[in-house]
Amino acid sequence: MSKTLMTALLLAGAFGALAAFAAGKTAADNSDARLVARGRYLVMLGGCNDCHTPGFALAAGNVSETQWLTGDRLGWQGDWGTTYPPNLRLRINAMDLATWKAFAKNLRTRPPMPYWAINAMSDDDLEALWAYVHSLGRAGEPAPAALPPGVAPKGPAVTFPAAPPTAVAGK
Ligand code: HEC
Repeated sequence: MSKTLMTALLLAGAFGALAAFAAGKTAADNSDARLVARGRYLVMLGGCNDCHTPGFALAAGNVSETQWLTGDRLGWQGDWGTTYPPNLRLRINAMDLATWKAFAKNLRTRPPMPYWAINAMSDDDLEALWAYVHSLGRAGEPAPAALPPGVAPKGPAVTFPAAPPTAVAGK
């Protein structure tokens, strides 16, 4: 084999490998982008921002995405005490995917968090939500710690009235 042909073959091989690498990377990027877009869609549909993003519901959703899921200082008060929607940007970004899935499937919280909605999410949806929050990255401060019943919150809180008798499930 001539030296020139040998060089040409080697070069062709190298370019082929580069092209394959580039194609593989693009395919992975596309599937990441799809996962992130699906996670964003689930967050919108799940209404997560309504409680976990400051001012979101009152601003009809007109809050910069940089602030999404950073938690809220608006408390939710009832016979469970006062709870605050945690900063999910800090919480979920501190978990690897396996930890998040196990956490989400077994999550139990006080009201008004609809934890059963998270428990019911498929593995794929939990992965998409995790990928989306990881694409946003960490931001904001931790939300205030929950207060036990009987302790008055210092800041604003939504107060739940006692449920009317007809609204009690199974009665
Ligand atoms: C009606 C308000 C509300 C909505 C809607 C809501 N959350 Fe929450 N969420 C809360 C509150 C309040 C807590 C804290 C409960 C507690 O302290 O026991 C919480 C807790 C959580 C936790 C536990 C965090 C931790 O550190 O323990 C996760 C995870 C979570 N929410 C995710 C979501 C996701 C994802 C969605 C959308 C599908 C969502 N939430 C929708 C109010 C809400």
